[in-house]
Amino acid sequence: MKLFIINGPNLNMLGLREPDIYGRQDYAALCSFIERTCKEAEIEFQIFQSNHEGELVDIIQSAYKNADGIVINPAAYTHTSVAILDALKAVNLPAVEVHLSDISKREDFRQISYAGMACIKTVKGLGFEGYRQAILFLKSYLNKEKVQS
Ligand code: DQA
Repeated sequence: MKLFIINGPNLNMLGLREPDIYGRQDYAALCSFIERTCKEAEIEFQIFQSNHEGELVDIIQSAYKNADGIVINPAAYTHTSVAILDALKAVNLPAVEVHLSDISKREDFRQISYAGMACIKTVKGLGFEGYRQAILFLKSYLNKEKVQS
C-alpha cells in the first residue's frame, strides 16, 4: 500500500507562520511525524509540498497508478481551487483532506472546501495528529476495499 501525502502553499513555513494557529513545530518536524506514522503502520509513502497550484495538480495526477490513496492539505487552495478538485476526481483515488487548524471555526472564506468535495473524509483542528488519523483511516479503508474485491 502506498500513499501520497500532499501539502499546499505556506505549509513549508510552519513554525514561523502564525504559530498560535498552526503551532510552533516546523515543516521538517511534520515530515518526520508523517514518516514515523507511515513506518509504524507499514505503509509506503511519498511526501510532497508545493506553493504552486499547477504543480499540486501535476502531483495529484502523478498519483494515478503510483499510489493507492492520497492525504492532502491543500492549504489556501482548499477554498479556491476547482483545478485541485478536478484533479482529485480525475485520478479517482480515495483521498482524505487534512487541516491543522479547525477551518470550521475560522473566517467565512474558509468555510468552503473544493478539495473536500472529492474526499472521503476530512480531519481538521488536530494539528499533526490529523495526518496520523488520515493515514490510519486510509489504511483501513484500503484494506476493506481489498477484502471486498
Ligand atoms: C490550513 C487551513 C487553510 O485555511 C489555510 O489557508 C492554510 C492551512 C490548515 O492546515 O489549517 O494554509 O489548510
